[in-house]
Amino acid sequence: DAALVVPPSATAAAAAVGTQEELKRVAAHRAVEMVESGMTLGLGTGSTAAHALDRLGDLLRCGALRGVAGVPTSLKTEAHAGLAGIPMLALGDAPRIHLSIDGADEVDPELNLIKGRGGSLLREKMIEGAGKRFVVIVDESKLVPRLGCTGAVPVEVVPFGCFHTLGLIRKVFDGLPGFSARLRTVATKDTAAKEVPFVTDNGNYIVEMFFDDGIRGDLREISDRLLQITGVVEHGMFLGLATDVVVAKKDGSVIVLD
Ligand code: 5RP
Repeated sequence: DAALVVPPSATAAAAAVGTQEELKRVAAHRAVEMVESGMTLGLGTGSTAAHALDRLGDLLRCGALRGVAGVPTSLKTEAHAGLAGIPMLALGDAPRIHLSIDGADEVDPELNLIKGRGGSLLREKMIEGAGKRFVVIVDESKLVPRLGCTGAVPVEVVPFGCFHTLGLIRKVFDGLPGFSARLRTVATKDTAAKEVPFVTDNGNYIVEMFFDDGIRGDLREISDRLLQITGVVEHGMFLGLATDVVVAKKDGSVIVLD
């Protein structure tokens, strides 16, 4: 029965090619092997998570997986999952989330993460934090010695008084050499305003924090101080949430950190 033939995984191709995109696909496919029929999944956002959506869609279509439903972490993922044929549930309607699969911007040696450079950190943290198991899928370039080493650490803020909130965020790191923070903007075709604030799926803005050499100090304390600021909704440090990290390496091997 041709309909029951499971489409081949990308593992072999990755070993041969080893491009970053192939590695993302390998990690995603490895994580999807952890999915069982009947599970409710947290569906991540980003280019790596997109490979997991495609793989899930393929496996549902050929009947290798049945009765799987997903809770999408962004509007983009909701649209992609819909096209892939993955049945979906809203967060409050899912009795429980068995497993979430999502990418990350950075993974430190304790499996703490930076997420949200794609702008979806709030829904990701709500859904992935609600589930039993959170499997992170990355290529090895995402492994870092310290969070904040490779780029922005996003903080979602309400639009009202956003520059006031930006000032309060700056105060948390007052005097820290190499620290800076700014509102994330996007280009617009409107010639009157070349840049406008990036707006999240929740109608909020994003403040981007930058650290010269990563975030030093007690991450939980820093997290608490940020969350105490009225106007901050959530930040992109995911501390102690990942249960497994699937890493696809350039040499063709795949390791699972837990
Ligand atoms: C989106 C995220 C993504 O998971 C993260 O940005 C990684 O994306 P990609 O897989 O495209 O590298 O947190 O908010």
